[in-house]
Amino acid sequence: MSSTSKKSLLDTMTQKMVESQVWRSIFRHGYPDTPLNQSLVMMGNVFLHLHPVKVSRQAMKITYTWCMGGISFFLFLLLTLTGVFLMFFYIPDIHVAYQNINQLDSAVSFGQLVRNMHRWAAHLMVVSVSLHMIRVFYHGAYKPPREFNWLVGVGLFFVTLFLSFTGYLLPWDQIAIWAITVGTNLAPYTPILGDAVYKVMTGGSTVGQPTLIRFYVAHVILLPLAAALLMAVHFWRIRKDGGEAGPPPPSRREIESSAERSTVGAAR
Ligand code: HEM
Repeated sequence: MSSTSKKSLLDTMTQKMVESQVWRSIFRHGYPDTPLNQSLVMMGNVFLHLHPVKVSRQAMKITYTWCMGGISFFLFLLLTLTGVFLMFFYIPDIHVAYQNINQLDSAVSFGQLVRNMHRWAAHLMVVSVSLHMIRVFYHGAYKPPREFNWLVGVGLFFVTLFLSFTGYLLPWDQIAIWAITVGTNLAPYTPILGDAVYKVMTGGSTVGQPTLIRFYVAHVILLPLAAALLMAVHFWRIRKDGGEAGPPPPSRREIESSAERSTVGAAR
């Protein structure tokens, strides 16, 4: 068979495959080489449709976002996975909690590794969320139409801090008990509601078993759920606000002076 007829056979087979019902039921648009097909690809794919149809090339640069939002999300997923592993070996009881943590470090396969991954990811998430907030502020991306998403972000910032705070008590070692004693002793200074806030946090008149169970439930259920919900709204809002803000367009003066420079360059 000559090379030309081989090629035409291949073309016919490709054509037949692309026109088949199976192919068309999966790929509902043509090859993404036109703006229309590119938009259809973005809208018709469950993962890609999380992004707006058009995004600014400049705003996608890693030097622009520092990827701190993405890294925060990655750390949250890592914390959820490692946290579920830890839940198999930890009982929120003041008589056994510390022992459980010691056993994790010495008797559970990969226990020490997973525990350290959870601890480091938690510290890093506080850092990455803070840097993300600074980056958003620095670029003025909190301004309309993104002011609502900024508020959702503030919610995420506090949830991240509370997750870190509640997790700190769980090992029930000396540093944890005294750190949380200091932390909760700030609560009575809250104006008007002070004593009630202290009672809600500790479940009594001092840090003890009711505090541990409260912090545990908040740490493994309430706060992760709140974070997941806020993140869903946060990502949906980014999409609805047209993707990331991106740098502002160049001013008229900048356009004119760059045009002038290129005319002078061409004349030389
Ligand atoms: C768990 C915490 C958070 C996660 C997972 C998260 C995730 C993200 C992601 C993935 C983006 C896309 C751009 C980027 O990566 O920079 C983004 C954008 C944004 N975030 Fe967050 N974020 C978090 C916390 C915050 C906080 C604390 C604030 C501010 C108080 C905030 C305000 C915003 C705003 C206003 C945008 C749009 C920025 C733009 O248009 O340039 N986020 N976030």
